[in-house]
Amino acid sequence: MAEKMDEETVAKVKGILLPWKGKRGNLIMALLRVQEALGYVPWEAMEIASVELNVPMARIYSVVTFYNYFKLKTPGKVVVMVCDGTACHIQGSPALVEAFEKQLGVKSGETTSDGLFYLQVVRCLGCCGLAPVVVVNGKTYRTVAGEDVAKIIAEWRAAMG
Ligand code: FES
Repeated sequence: MAEKMDEETVAKVKGILLPWKGKRGNLIMALLRVQEALGYVPWEAMEIASVELNVPMARIYSVVTFYNYFKLKTPGKVVVMVCDGTACHIQGSPALVEAFEKQLGVKSGETTSDGLFYLQVVRCLGCCGLAPVVVVNGKTYRTVAGEDVAKIIAEWRAAMG
C-alpha cells in the first residue's frame, strides 16, 4: 500500500470524498472515511482530497498530523478492515473479528510480528447490502463467512510472496 495507488483505489477515494465536495468544515470526517477504507491516509489520498475538496495541501497535512488518530503510513503491508457496523454485526461480524484475531494472532489495531498483516475493526464501510464485509488493501469481500477467513489470509500471504 505504500506504493502508488491503483486506479481502483483512486476511484474509491474520490467516491468517498464526493459527499463532501463543495461543503466546508467536514475535512476531518472526509479524511476519516478515507482512513477507514484504506487503513491510513496515504500522501496520494491527501493530494486527491486537496483537489477534490479544494483545500490547500498544507491544511490537509496540518489536520492529519495534528490529530493522532490519523495514520500516515500503512501499519502493515496488508491492511485487513473488518466491518462491525450495525448491518455487519447483525450478519455475524463478531465471529469474523474473532476468527481474524485468532488466525493472525493479533487484536484490532495491531500488526502481526512479521509486519505483514494489520487488523482493524471498523464501523460501517458503506456497503451494508454486502454484509458482513471485509476490505483488504482496498479489495472488498462480501457476505464473508467464518470459513472464508483462512482463505482470505492465505490469498494475501501468497500475494505478498
Ligand atoms: S455495517 Fe458493515 S458495511 Fe455498513
